Amino acid sequence: MASEKVLIVDDERLVRWSLRQKCEEWGYQVSEAESGADGLRLARNESPDLVLLDVRLTDMNGLQVLERLKLNGDARAVIMITADPQLEDVKQALKQGAYDFIGKPVDYDELRVAVKNALEATQLRSENETLKKEVLQRRRAAYHDVVGESQKMLDLMSFVNKVASSEATTILIQGESGTGKDLISRAIHFESRRKDKPLIVINCSAIPETLMEAELFGHEKGAFTDAKAMKKGLFEQADGGTLFLDEIGELSPLLQAKLLRVLEEQVIRRVGGVKDQEVDVRVIAASNRDLEKAVRDGQFRQDLYYRLAIISIFLPPLRDRREDILPLVGFFIERYNKRFRKSVRGITPETRELLLQHDWPGNVRELKNAIERAMILEDDDLLHPLYLPFSVGSPLSSLTAFEAGSGGNVSSGASMAGGATAEMITVNGKNLPRLSIPEGGTSLEEIERAMVEMAMHQANRNQTQAAKLLDISRDALRYKLKKFGLIHTDEEEAGQPSNG
Ligand SMILES: Nc1ncnc2c1ncn2[C@@H]1O[C@H](COP(=O)(O)OP(=O)(O)OP(=O)(O)O)[C@@H](O)[C@H]1O
Ligand SMILES: [Mg+2]
Repeated sequence: MASEKVLIVDDERLVRWSLRQKCEEWGYQVSEAESGADGLRLARNESPDLVLLDVRLTDMNGLQVLERLKLNGDARAVIMITADPQLEDVKQALKQGAYDFIGKPVDYDELRVAVKNALEATQLRSENETLKKEVLQRRRAAYHDVVGESQKMLDLMSFVNKVASSEATTILIQGESGTGKDLISRAIHFESRRKDKPLIVINCSAIPETLMEAELFGHEKGAFTDAKAMKKGLFEQADGGTLFLDEIGELSPLLQAKLLRVLEEQVIRRVGGVKDQEVDVRVIAASNRDLEKAVRDGQFRQDLYYRLAIISIFLPPLRDRREDILPLVGFFIERYNKRFRKSVRGITPETRELLLQHDWPGNVRELKNAIERAMILEDDDLLHPLYLPFSVGSPLSSLTAFEAGSGGNVSSGASMAGGATAEMITVNGKNLPRLSIPEGGTSLEEIERAMVEMAMHQANRNQTQAAKLLDISRDALRYKLKKFGLIHTDEEEAGQPSNG
């Protein structure tokens, strides 16, 4: 076996020299760096098995170096070395994933044991991790860019896998806006025996009720005034394939009844037609509304709901699977690096904290948009918090209190939307200061943008509701969304039936 690589990062030449003597004597391959920056560069190039890292470096704090090393995954194990070990540092370093802590002057017997232990302990882990990474990567590739490492997503994907290859003809996908319903429906189609047949997508809320029936089932020549020729409906077009009915909750009662019949009998009848026609179509229905509640409220047919829900997939909100946040960030960085010809390497520790803490009311779509925006604006090769829509210290941060909306409460009782008069508001148990204009001033336009963005979040991207929150018309809201570039690409596309 090739000898393991040890990287020594210390600004004192003499210390480096004696550490190198010892490590070489113990059979390791050694390289050294005299600064944090150098150490990070070497670690990146050499992927050392172990880093011996001084806590007090001239250019950086060793803890910062540690954090970067861990973030980039550039070192298997790290042992911190310091002349004055302070409890706080030790605790912090161990928390950040350092394997051990050694005092200066170094006791070489102690170091030898620590090094040996660190390498042994991480050997297994790194083998497992490589293996796990490979499995995950394969799974990811097999699953059409669905990223998810949380147990929830892994379970879900194995269920999706099963469902895709089954003969099930109706599948219901539920989940908040932005959780990946479209994405999963595509994965199901392309993992099924139907993959070489059409995937047809239609958004039930985008087509007027009067046109919907002909759209779905087609019409005979002369069925109505404009019906100059026979036209096949989407069911016929999707024959052998998959029909994705998005926002099924918006389907009118009449069409709900007709759909139920199709699902039960696998036959359709064109508008104005007299005979039924067999179709072989898998219907995937999706909704970001709680359909069970819609049933209780009398807005959705119970029998249709039961029929759809035989195989039902629920996509959990991102805040309930925070382990997926960082893998998704990595995935989107990779994607936008390619798309924007950039070479962003990762995110800063502060950005990571913010991303992990944020509640993501807009789920993966919100995360994707946040990364996209940051990558457009960022000049460095790490994403800093400055360009996050909810970053601390940006003009928006004084407004984050609003965002909590339903999750928080205004302790003074003053209505924030009615004016910035509240003294102190409590959000998820945290007290936040009242709104004020920062010393250097602020930008009203930025604040307006933030308010619009937050209203959209809070309303789950429902424009009518968001407009209501801001007490403006829906048209005014749409204008502002356009003006601030807040319309999501997939919102613009949504609504048109399309061949997948
Ligand atoms: N697990 C995931 N891995 C990678 N990308 C994801 C994942 N989930 C969602 N996305 C991306 O996030 C965006 C939103 O996902 P999608 O359009 O599927 O959400 P949705 O649930 O259909 O939302 P809506 O209810 O608003 O229609 C898409 O760009 C999608 O590719
Ligand atoms: Mg969707």
